[in-house]
Amino acid sequence: MKFQFSFKEYDPKAEAVYGTILTLGNGHIGIRGEVELEPTIHGTTVAGVYDYTPYFYREIVNAPRVIGLQIFFNGEPISLSTQKLLKYERELDIENATLTTKIDLKTQNNGRIHYESLRLVHGKKKSLILLKFRIKVSEDGILTVISPIKTNVVNPSYRDEIMVKHLKVKDMEDKEEGIYAEVETLDGKYRIGIASSLISETTAKRISTKSAEGIAEVLTLTVKKDRTYEFVKYVVVLSSEIPNLKESAFQQLQEAKSLGFDKLYDEHKKYWDEIWKRAKIEIDGDKEAEKGLNFSIFHLVQSMPIDSRISLTARGIHGFGYRGHVFWDTEIYALPFFMAVFPKKAREMLMYRYNNLNAARENAKLNGYRGAQFPWESADDGYEATPSLIPLDMTGKKVVRIYTGEEEHHITADIAYAVELYYKLTGDEEFMSRYGLEIILETARFWASRVKYDEKKGYIIEKVIGPDEYHEHVNNSFFTNLMARYNLILAAKYFEIAKNSGGEWIKTLERVNVTEKEVQKWLNIAEKIYTPRQENGIFEEFDGYFDLVDYILDPYDFGEERLPEEIKENLGKTKIIKQADVIAAQYLLKDQFDLETIRKNFDYYIIRTTHASSLSMPPYAIVASWLDYEDLAYDYFMKCAFIDLYNLYGNTQDGFHLATAGGVWQIIFRGFCGIDIHNGEIEINPKLPKKWKAIRLKFFFRESLLSLEIRNDTVKVKLLQGRDVKIRAFGKDSVVKHGEEIVLSK
Ligand code: BGC
Repeated sequence: MKFQFSFKEYDPKAEAVYGTILTLGNGHIGIRGEVELEPTIHGTTVAGVYDYTPYFYREIVNAPRVIGLQIFFNGEPISLSTQKLLKYERELDIENATLTTKIDLKTQNNGRIHYESLRLVHGKKKSLILLKFRIKVSEDGILTVISPIKTNVVNPSYRDEIMVKHLKVKDMEDKEEGIYAEVETLDGKYRIGIASSLISETTAKRISTKSAEGIAEVLTLTVKKDRTYEFVKYVVVLSSEIPNLKESAFQQLQEAKSLGFDKLYDEHKKYWDEIWKRAKIEIDGDKEAEKGLNFSIFHLVQSMPIDSRISLTARGIHGFGYRGHVFWDTEIYALPFFMAVFPKKAREMLMYRYNNLNAARENAKLNGYRGAQFPWESADDGYEATPSLIPLDMTGKKVVRIYTGEEEHHITADIAYAVELYYKLTGDEEFMSRYGLEIILETARFWASRVKYDEKKGYIIEKVIGPDEYHEHVNNSFFTNLMARYNLILAAKYFEIAKNSGGEWIKTLERVNVTEKEVQKWLNIAEKIYTPRQENGIFEEFDGYFDLVDYILDPYDFGEERLPEEIKENLGKTKIIKQADVIAAQYLLKDQFDLETIRKNFDYYIIRTTHASSLSMPPYAIVASWLDYEDLAYDYFMKCAFIDLYNLYGNTQDGFHLATAGGVWQIIFRGFCGIDIHNGEIEINPKLPKKWKAIRLKFFFRESLLSLEIRNDTVKVKLLQGRDVKIRAFGKDSVVKHGEEIVLSK
């Protein structure tokens, strides 16, 4: 695979968008893509490092900036904003996970400067960042390179002019090996230790400076015209779970320096080579789609957490959007990709939920319920982190009230759903018997206490917000009620399995203390849970939805801008919905509906959806492909695959849309390839867009690694590793054995 993304126009306003799409990361560290020679408010993200913040409870901390450089030639700054820019070229190479920058400048004194750099956040050595750069000047003179660890960083907040300080400096030291800075979050929970060293190929004079801005190494050298001078900046970023932070940081710095850039770079390339061997998807007949798809996969992989202390956040290690919180985006949109391609990582992300089960239990209790209620937005401690209000002005007089934290309860069922999907795909019994089961039981317990009995309707769920967030405080949301029912049935099913399995399964049942009687009650609720009414086959999104004001939208357009002002202000009174809701439920619970019912609902809701959330198009695209609405499915797929490259939602600067990226993979997997798991068998029902000749992809099914080539009339499956797998395609069954390839044709 060869994928390079080039950007040749410098626009200070666009830098924030490049910042996101050119982010490099390894799950532990994220370095945004802003050019290193210019100042930016963005520092470094260290996954899992949060601090208390007004309104948003806890937010991911903007850690010290380590990638920036200040360069002076004969006293003049080599900066894009003060000198004449002759050339600006940046290239993200997703094959090798590197970012190159090439800049030519003409100085005020008519000198010419050429600067080029190669940046990487090491794939394998999770704490290491490398920047190799070269400078060429057109006259002899004095070159000064300042390489700082900038500790005076702050977080952008709900308004641009409001910044939140999260870090205090605990230590700054200059040693022969390099400079060191250590910061602590204001709540005292985390420390970050950074060691950095700038090496010049040519002899240079070195000093260091300390100031309120941080600590810096300064190299000064006499340079000759037209000669290239090369430097390597080594940076090690550690967070406080590592003992002896300073010692470890210097030790890792020394190790990196003694290995040298080339060896480290080779190791990094090998790491990414292995990633792509597994994760790459090829599309014959549509190189553009292939690029967008693998670009999405690249950013998902870069955000893959390194352990279970934190899970994938809504905007990744790429930015501060949604404050680094974890939503249902993770379980419903992103996790299926990891379950199939990096199953160990999917397990860790589910373990994050398990590790926060006690917080979820407390959350349920606090709200007057039983069992475990997962927060709508979760940070490092698993408590509810959704803001309940956000001020709109400086004085705090105008506020927007946010109800999702109090009412968007479906997340609890979404997590249980993901646990079962993980088990179906991986067969990881150790996880399921010890941890997954506990999540499923405790979440079912929550729903049993959340429902109310109504004489006419049976069990109802009042005052919720479904995925469609335009309508608040609604009763009997189709999505919520159906997912709650699914959760209850799941718990009863796994209770039976556990009872008959012994071992860890039984231990978990004992720990959770579930009785037959309680399970009977769950089944009874599930049976009588109210399904919102149906009119002409269309399910009402929630009680009273059909009585709202109607408004029809063009399904090929998206966003709220197209709506008239009076509609925009009264969305809750209209039938307009923000994102896939009934259709998202029909996607997730496909087996409960026949295709004709799905079609009726799709036709109805698609022209009433704004897709104002980037989570909307993926489920619609998948269902569209099932319904043979090929043009629409393809149109949505392409929009999702290029959502950040083209900044389609206008907020790419806040971070990468990882739910959409996961959705892009799911459109391929569940939509165009039509892959589904039934009774331990993989079913494939291809619906490739017309111009696509073939899709080639790999995924794991129960520890067996499969390589597939899918065309509309043939499916080839090869078993690369693991046990036999049953495959069904075009109504034919077959078994693929180790090392073998089978071909199923129409
Ligand atoms: C969407 C939610 C989503 C959240 C974070 C909101 O705009 O409506 O479904 O979880 O963004 O991505």
